[in-house]
Amino acid sequence: MADTAITDDFCLAPLRGVTVRAFRNLHALWFQPPDRAVAPFIPTFAGAKVRPVLLKDIDPGLGQAVPVVPQVIGKDAGQLRTLLHAFKDMGYRCADLNAGCPYPFVTKKGRGAGLMRDADAFARLLETGCEEMPGGFSVKVRLGMDTPDLLARRLGLINAFPLREVTVHARTARQMYGGTVLLDAFAEALALCRHPVVYNGDMRTRQDYLRLKARFPGVTHWMIGRGVAIDPFLIGRIRRGDAPAREAARLKGFLDDYVAANTEELYGPASVLGRMKELWGYLHRSLCQGERVWRSVRVCRTVDEYRRVVEGVFAAFPGFAGDEELCGIGS
Ligand SMILES: Cc1cc2nc3c(=O)[nH]c(=O)nc-3n(C[C@H](O)[C@H](O)[C@H](O)COP(=O)(O)O)c2cc1C
Repeated sequence: MADTAITDDFCLAPLRGVTVRAFRNLHALWFQPPDRAVAPFIPTFAGAKVRPVLLKDIDPGLGQAVPVVPQVIGKDAGQLRTLLHAFKDMGYRCADLNAGCPYPFVTKKGRGAGLMRDADAFARLLETGCEEMPGGFSVKVRLGMDTPDLLARRLGLINAFPLREVTVHARTARQMYGGTVLLDAFAEALALCRHPVVYNGDMRTRQDYLRLKARFPGVTHWMIGRGVAIDPFLIGRIRRGDAPAREAARLKGFLDDYVAANTEELYGPASVLGRMKELWGYLHRSLCQGERVWRSVRVCRTVDEYRRVVEGVFAAFPGFAGDEELCGIGS
């Protein structure tokens, strides 16, 4: 397998605050892009009028270098319909439902992974989505809330709707984003699901992909989030067994463009700095002496200081960390 071209489909995961429009577009410009991306969730709301700011991240008029599927989070079918109409008005034919967000303040309201507990609300949302989206509706789920058996019990319901695909983050909500992915429970859900299944969780290296592919040869669609934020070269490195060189200059070019795009787009330097630190919280792990680099970026208080620190990092570039250091990173 190491020498054959990999033709599977790779989707960039939604990471709120990280895989935003500027990231998606600039990542596609500087690195091998994913086949598509699911955008970070947009919450449903009461009322008929959608505030344009809610939709800015997915506005195709602002540029879209990879195909994007918008994602919603909510629990009310009427509110979902309002948002899906807005997506359709923007030209989208597909949308995705977040039934995996693990934060208790979300799940307690029956949203995100909390939807999986409420079969009736879940069914109403799936029905509405399938009715509304001409190109197909999809859902992103976890294996369960506290234990990894809820998804298997919900698959009867999920199978009853004509979904385009089901993305499974192979963890429970209680695990949040840490601990090991639960591959036995994923295997069970995969066997029961009649829709195309997208695997998601902890893919950091080509070896991770090859191991997962060997275990689940029927899975052809993979979603990667933090792996790409840690190592923006990852999709190219997975696809091409010859492990194309990671180039510091390319990473620097991307980072310079990203800070410039955020400066243009966000209100105020604190937001720009916050956005850059959000990314560096992942990115530093792909560098040698990553902790040292992260400490110097984390303490920056102005965008100018940030720029100087990053210039310094690349002027004396510490090198890229080896794959063994990236393997099996949890949160
Ligand atoms: C900071 C952060 C933000 C996230 N935002 C979203 C989101 O908006 N929608 C969603 O479905 N999942 C969201 N997730 C979950 C990821 O899409 C993904 O399922 C999870 O990170 C596991 O995949 P990975 O190991 O490839 O990152 C988020 C995760 C993180 C860490």
